[in-house]
Amino acid sequence: VTTRLIIDTDPGIDDAVAILLAAASPEVSLQALITVAGNVPVTQTTANAAALADLIDSDVPVARGAAGPLCGRPGPHATAVHGQNGLAGYTLPASHRNILEANDLYRQILHSAPATVAAIGPLTNIANLVTHAPSTANRIEHLVIMGGSTTHGNVTADAEFNIYADPEAAACVLNSQLYPTLIGLNITERALVGPSHVPARGTATELANHLFQGRNTQQHDSLALAYTIDPSLVKTLPARVRVECDDERSRGKTHVDFHSPSPNCLVGVEVDVVRFRELLLSRLAALDAQLDRT
Ligand code: RIB
Ligand code: CA
Repeated sequence: VTTRLIIDTDPGIDDAVAILLAAASPEVSLQALITVAGNVPVTQTTANAAALADLIDSDVPVARGAAGPLCGRPGPHATAVHGQNGLAGYTLPASHRNILEANDLYRQILHSAPATVAAIGPLTNIANLVTHAPSTANRIEHLVIMGGSTTHGNVTADAEFNIYADPEAAACVLNSQLYPTLIGLNITERALVGPSHVPARGTATELANHLFQGRNTQQHDSLALAYTIDPSLVKTLPARVRVECDDERSRGKTHVDFHSPSPNCLVGVEVDVVRFRELLLSRLAALDAQLDRT
């Protein structure tokens, strides 16, 4: 059965690989790209999402989401990792497609039938749904989050970027009934993919290789996306996760308790990196063939 899939995203080099993977995978039916501020400002993540939708030759609707975190402080950006334009300087033709509003598009997609949401950026949009449109949020069949870590962070010693960017949103989502699956740094840091794995032979693999920037890169978002395609790639365990919001030094840390009698999510603890790479490589090659069909 095909999974109806919404991607909530801040493209972003690994977000872009995740979007390519979704486009190439018959197991998922991409219903929407909904953007959020994160790696780069929301104007740029939205332009990137629209341009990527054009690249994958899809009529998937694109909506613009939150421009910053719930708390109102300016969110962090990750231009050092993703480049000023969010795609490591790769220039895609600017899209002219109509951009919708996030909550409207969530309502439109989820009220026609339940769907899985892959949240691969800060969780501001999801928290807004939980708070202001709970009947829509409750129609999210499965929420898969790239976020957090059972070990260490990548922005501070304790905090992973997507959680760090909006800890209050992450806490709101974890305190809801959504019972998400968290794909965290403890496994995504091991999901390394680079040019040696993905020969550039066409539209998709050329973009992917540009985004790898000549080295093995941690496929945070594309692993979370791969989990929506094949959950057997990742072993998960129930846990109660609390997000640190108050202690400034560890703000954004995910405190993971695997022994809690009241778990609020599933946490990824092991990943089959070889099978993940095989999936990603084969799907990117298939996308080349699909896009470059002469
Ligand atoms: O920590 C990794 C996450 O932060 C990924 O989603 C990456 O795109 C950045 O947003
Ligand atoms: Ca991301």
